[in-house]
Amino acid sequence: MRRSSPVTRHTLPDGREFWSVTSFRDASEVLQNATVFSSQRGTLLDQLGRGDPAGGIQLVVTDPPRHTSLRMPLQQALAAKPVTGMRERFREVVIDALAPLADGGGYDLAAHMRRLAMGVMGTLMDLPAGDWARLTELSVASIAPEDPLFGRQGAGESSLGDTHRELLVFFHDVVRHRRAHLGDDLVSLLVETEWDGRRLNQREVVSNCYSLLLGGNVTISQVPTTTLADLMGTSTLDRWSADPALLGSGVEEALRWATPNTHFLRYAVQDTELRGQRITAGDAVVVWLASANRDEDAFPDPFTFDVRRRPNRHLAFGLGPHYCVGNAVVRDVLKLFFAELFSRFTDLEQVGPGVRLHSHTISGWASLPITAEPRVPHRPAAC
Ligand code: HEM
Repeated sequence: MRRSSPVTRHTLPDGREFWSVTSFRDASEVLQNATVFSSQRGTLLDQLGRGDPAGGIQLVVTDPPRHTSLRMPLQQALAAKPVTGMRERFREVVIDALAPLADGGGYDLAAHMRRLAMGVMGTLMDLPAGDWARLTELSVASIAPEDPLFGRQGAGESSLGDTHRELLVFFHDVVRHRRAHLGDDLVSLLVETEWDGRRLNQREVVSNCYSLLLGGNVTISQVPTTTLADLMGTSTLDRWSADPALLGSGVEEALRWATPNTHFLRYAVQDTELRGQRITAGDAVVVWLASANRDEDAFPDPFTFDVRRRPNRHLAFGLGPHYCVGNAVVRDVLKLFFAELFSRFTDLEQVGPGVRLHSHTISGWASLPITAEPRVPHRPAAC
């Protein structure tokens, strides 16, 4: 499609229609132009034509200019500098997730990376550690309701409704409690955030907590898992692990390679044209991030994992006004992860069949059994 029809119209059997945008250039244009392409009616294909009840309430489904004032406090709290201050806490989360790999036997990389992601989000939001396992299950079930491991198979929509309800009830309780015990965490930040000249109300805080948890939980985990699934046993991984100077460019390439969010959706709010195709006001336009990140016109040799790739202006975090507000956290955590992995382990090997996650929204693994040899003595970590 990138070559022959980069902007393509699809019709579903039930009559609903959407455009697919597959090239880097067009994807960038749509993501950057929030005046023509709105997020407010929902951003996921699963909700096509149904709207999103969180539109105008939750950051990711609110259009500028209102979007900008809600984003600012989160952006400041999650910018590179404050995040560096949390590095040692994130390092503990990473080391804890890697520890069982030293035990020998099968280590489910996908499961432990979910624990890692939850550790990061639980720390940032100051959520009770006793709830982390359940929150992880609910997060994955939200984006993979039909997955045999995570969804309640066969229950379809009602299963997804139950999952959302449980998460929202959880956050209602957390937020109510947090109002009386404010701290230095993202839930407290939302409680204290002013929007349109007033504090966010309970529904707005809860909705944004839900979105933050999911935004981080289902994505961070897939970057190491997808990357290692493809690199284990290759000389690329040997080269990357041997050279500390490659840590940063390797992480950036891992983000491009894994692109956990398959797509984001927009609705045109006025008639426009894209690559000669006439888009009418109201049309749904799906930007396929995974395809844009493999576009031959933007990335030389895109199907090769080039650990030295520069420049690497991938769209894994999106682009424009909704560019991922957690990007600095993610980059820091991934650097810590690969630095600690390479310092402590060698000879990573897949030891059984992996199971892909069944999801339209997130690309990655449900399960991936691996082993590794502990490196004795440890090498100093590269960061
Ligand atoms: C590998 C990990 C991650 C990836 C690949 C990722 C990807 C993305 C993408 C593609 C968007 C743009 C959505 C759009 O254009 O509609 C986005 C937005 C967002 N992300 Fe992330 N994300 C990651 C981790 C995180 C983390 C850790 C957090 C929270 C700490 C987070 C919070 C958000 C929020 C709140 C938005 C909405 C921003 C806005 O609308 O202004 N994400 N993310």
